Amino acid sequence: MPREGSPLEGGPIEEAERQIADGRAADAKELLRGLLEEGRGGLLARFLYARARGLSGDTAGALETARETAMLYPHVAQAALGLGEALLWCELLAPAIAEFQRTLRLEPALDQARFLLGSAWLQAGEPDKALSVFGGLSDETPGLLEKVAQASAMRTQPRSDAGYVRHLFDQFSADYDSRMLSQLSYRAPEILRQLADLVMPQRKDLAVLDLGCGTGLCGAAFEALAGRLDGVDLSPAMILKARARGIYDKLDVADIESALVTAHYDLLLAADTLVYLGNLEPTFLGAARALNADGFFLFTVESKQDDGFELGPKRRWRHSENYLRALADKVGFEVAGLMDCVPRMEANAPVEGFAVALHKP
Ligand SMILES: C[S@@+](CC[C@H](N)C(=O)[O-])C[C@H]1O[C@@H](n2cnc3c(N)ncnc32)[C@H](O)[C@@H]1O
Repeated sequence: MPREGSPLEGGPIEEAERQIADGRAADAKELLRGLLEEGRGGLLARFLYARARGLSGDTAGALETARETAMLYPHVAQAALGLGEALLWCELLAPAIAEFQRTLRLEPALDQARFLLGSAWLQAGEPDKALSVFGGLSDETPGLLEKVAQASAMRTQPRSDAGYVRHLFDQFSADYDSRMLSQLSYRAPEILRQLADLVMPQRKDLAVLDLGCGTGLCGAAFEALAGRLDGVDLSPAMILKARARGIYDKLDVADIESALVTAHYDLLLAADTLVYLGNLEPTFLGAARALNADGFFLFTVESKQDDGFELGPKRRWRHSENYLRALADKVGFEVAGLMDCVPRMEANAPVEGFAVALHKP
């Protein structure tokens, strides 16, 4: 790491680096704060101060310091790297990626930036981009082999990575409802509600589980049919929003595939959720187990022509009618309804989908 600043820096800077390496970031933070307050710190002191703040849990403070440092040293790779790292601590993934890319433009040989850029792509659910960045690093890089293994597994997994989905929706949660409803003309909940009126008219007081409940838009559409309404979602931030709606009896942060293992319900809902799962066999098997006799599983998917399923360019999976019908048959469901629909828009174009009702005899 380049040394910069006054000759006075040597002692305390090395001490702070040692403290950080020993896991004593809070001590390093105090030491560096004192140094900077005395006007004795340069780039390296600021860089380490941001890192010490981040590592001791003060992520907002780390970002503040890293931003100041990047403004003071706009053409120095180490300052850009520190800002990228602080953005990552604050879970601001897209700007963090941009900052690591800028770091590498300033100093292409900075391996730490390459490692963090690859790790950020991995977190963003982009294993191919991660692997291409990791390709420029030596196999000796600490932690690299584990990251490469994670990226390779993600590439072949027949579903979206749970960490990627959680992160995506934790970020999206704040303005999810307004963006979905106004910008994307989201209609999956009301489409499913209309389907329910067709295939299961007059049913009320149902035990309902909303799979991937998000902020509760689909739960709200089905509240009147429910005697009990539960929800599960991978994203804690989405669950908080759903809780604030006050319509659910129970909400859990959980993966659909595990949530169905012990459940018993009359109606399962999955509005725009199965687009994060490729192979639906574990979910269909779980749904067949979790439903009471004469129960229904209502969901939307994005549609694919011909057979099977595929990952689309927006990292959402698409499923074919043939695949859905064959799988329903395999696990013992009757297809009570399967209709073309447009659950939402994307870049002003309709997204083609299916709304499906499966019935457990
Ligand atoms: C597009 S949102 C739909 C939310 C809600 N159903 C609605 O109609 O507004 C998809 C939701 O599914 C959740 N999700 C995706 N995959 C999941 C999984 N495997 N287990 C649990 N939740 C999942 C996401 O966290 C997100 O909240």
